[in-house]
Amino acid sequence: MGGGDRDHANPLAGVDLAGWFEGHGRDLPWRRTRYPWAIVVAEAMLQQTQVARVTERWPRFLGRFPTPAACAAAPVGDVIDEWAGLGYNRRAVALHRTATAIVDRHGGRVPDGLADLLALPGIGPYTARAVRVFAFELDDAVVDTNVARILARATGRPLRPAPLQALADAAVPRGRGWAWNQALLDVGAGWCTARTPRCDQGCPLAVAGRCAWWAAGRPQPDPAVGSARVSGGQSRFAGSDRQGRGRLVEALRRGPVAAVDLAAVMGWPDDTARAERVAATVVADGLARRHGGTLDLGA
Ligand code: ADE
Repeated sequence: MGGGDRDHANPLAGVDLAGWFEGHGRDLPWRRTRYPWAIVVAEAMLQQTQVARVTERWPRFLGRFPTPAACAAAPVGDVIDEWAGLGYNRRAVALHRTATAIVDRHGGRVPDGLADLLALPGIGPYTARAVRVFAFELDDAVVDTNVARILARATGRPLRPAPLQALADAAVPRGRGWAWNQALLDVGAGWCTARTPRCDQGCPLAVAGRCAWWAAGRPQPDPAVGSARVSGGQSRFAGSDRQGRGRLVEALRRGPVAAVDLAAVMGWPDDTARAERVAATVVADGLARRHGGTLDLGA
């Protein structure tokens, strides 16, 4: 392949992020292992939870469910229990399903093929590539909301999903994918942040002259806004369906809940229809079971 072609498609050509990582990267516990199941668990937690909390909870989870087989063999209720405080209980159910499929289809070993990973329940494009890169050290590009924001700003324009992944792929230096991707996550967390980017405080893209948005004086609108995979901001939690779901699962941890009490338990005493509808999604997601007039957490 002509190096020129690759450079042309690569907005980050010449930026030594892998080298930058050695001096500036965060030393996080899950970066010290290549054990694939540990990476699967870390990525599941990191999608919704602050790094500081994951640092506490990731070793504890792995102590209890050290392998896909151990997780798959446990009742889903135990996994939900261990997930308490990590938010989105659905993800605990999904992780249990992932573990079960790894056991059933791959003899208990996390696969490294992209198609095999994507075919697992609970594994999307981000996590599949994160496992390939952070566990197997393959040179894929991991694209989460941080990476999407960085690339949109670096190119100076909002990016659609396919060009975004293609640009990210083109930027990964051969044999350095692990450090390169970790570096991008750190730049996104520490410099190229959504609201108050610290471009002039040592962002390695700005320093290398590879950020079109910075070079142009950061004109509005920010190209990251409206780019693929850049979220438009979380809907407010208070009063949300998610808050009601969380309250219900909390209550179920303490014991079964009578259907007539759902609305009160979920914090919407005047809206039984909403409580019923949202409780049905909790059951459909496998987080709870319904027997006639009672809900419980399941075995
Ligand atoms: N290292 C590996 N994956 C990560 C993530 N999702 N967030 C922060 N650091 C990571």
